[in-house]
Order: sequence, then C-alpha cells, then structure tokens
Amino acid sequence: MDDRSSRRDFLRWIGASSGALLLSNFACNGSAQNPDTDAGRDAGNEDVGAGDIGSSDGGTTADVAELGGTDVGGTDVGGTDVAEPACEATGSDILGPFHEEGAPHRTVLATEDERGERLVIEGTVYESDCTTPVGEALLDVWQADADGEYHGGSDDQYRLRGQMRTDSDGRYRFETIRPGNYPLGATMRPAHIHFTVTKPGFEPLTTQLYFAGDPHLAPDDPCGSCNSGDPTLIIELDDDPEGEGLFGTFDIVVESA
Ligand SMILES: [Fe+2]
Repeated sequence: MDDRSSRRDFLRWIGASSGALLLSNFACNGSAQNPDTDAGRDAGNEDVGAGDIGSSDGGTTADVAELGGTDVGGTDVGGTDVAEPACEATGSDILGPFHEEGAPHRTVLATEDERGERLVIEGTVYESDCTTPVGEALLDVWQADADGEYHGGSDDQYRLRGQMRTDSDGRYRFETIRPGNYPLGATMRPAHIHFTVTKPGFEPLTTQLYFAGDPHLAPDDPCGSCNSGDPTLIIELDDDPEGEGLFGTFDIVVESA
C-alpha cells in the first residue's frame, strides 16, 4: 500500500468514526441533547473538527486538520447535514385575578381534608434546549378548589397555594387535588393550575396547566385571552402509580433572558 492510498483509507476511517461519534451522542442523549453540532463541540464533548479525536474514542490522536483539512466536525458529516431536533418553549398564559403574593414554601398544597380527587403533578424545568435542567427555579402555584372556588392568601392559610424550588436536576413535585371548572359568563373555564416560574438569567414565565379531555378547552374556553388550546400547556392525567388519585407530568421549558 503506497502513502496516498494509506492516507485515503485513513481519511475514510476518520469520517466513519467521527460520524459514528455524532450519531452515538445523539442517540444516547435523546431528542434534544445536541444543539451544537454546527460548532463541532458535541461529539463526546470533544472538538472533532480541528483537534484530537483520539482522546474521546481511544483511537489515533492524529490532528484531522493536518490530514488534508477534512472537516468532520460541522453540520456536514460525510456530506449529510445533522438536523437539529425540534424543541419548543412552554407557552405563557394570563396571570388571572386570583394570584396572592407570599404563599408558603410547601409541596403539599391540599390538606388531607381538602375535598376532591387527589392529584400529583411533577416535572422538570429545562433550559431552551429542552435538555439542560434548571435547578433552583422558583415555582409559584395556585388553583381553585374542587368546586371551582379560589381561596385567599394570609386570611385563608393560602389554601391550595404554594411555592417551591426545583432541585439540582430541575425537578419539582407537588400534591394537590384536581381543580374544578368554574363559570365565566355563560360557560365554564377548563380546569387549570396557575404557575409562575422564575430564576435570574431566564425570562419569567406565567402560565396555566390544563388537562386533556376537558370539554371546555379552547375553542370552547370562555376566556378569550387564555391559551387553553396551546398543546405545551395540556397534559394527560393517569392513575397515580404510587397512591390513590391522579398523576401528571408537566415539563417546563424556559427561555434565557
Ligand atoms: Fe384560574
């Protein structure tokens, strides 16, 4: 084998190995892990576009840039563009007239004697890449009771209200009851839970969480300025696998400020 054919074979191997690295990283990290493929940064957190790929795959430590300048680190991997996964920020919704400042920090919003179907909501707050968790985000949550009635703040023990922070993995969880529908004009609003999500460095989010199958969701929501037709705000409820009542997951994606 002469030097030219040896060099050609090596470049072909480099292209195949680097493509495999990118695909492996994408598959391992799920749907939204790899936003930086065009910067050549995310193939195992190594720059395979201009540097040392040997330290990440155990193979050669040759500098690709010196071997004919072949670009294997950008969006073009062997001539194939690497598509960026879809990722959508959680929609906003109106604050409404029933928010109360100063709710206690707690994750059990409904006392044991609160009437209604028990409900656990949990989820993760993510950055706009839908992958990086946002720890220490502050959630302020409030809702109506099973009859659709809101209760007060300090004069009413902040009934069905609470604040909580996400943990270091961006996760939160609270226990409550399924809120009831309440009338607005001649018809009923869909059942919902109000949220604000704040953390320095991110755009504050004010929104409402709705439940799939509610017959009062948009376009039948009498609140014309509400967003009960936004699919990022509607979740399915299932039986709680760890207890009686219902369970739902509401992941939240916030945008950088
Ligand atoms: Fe409301």
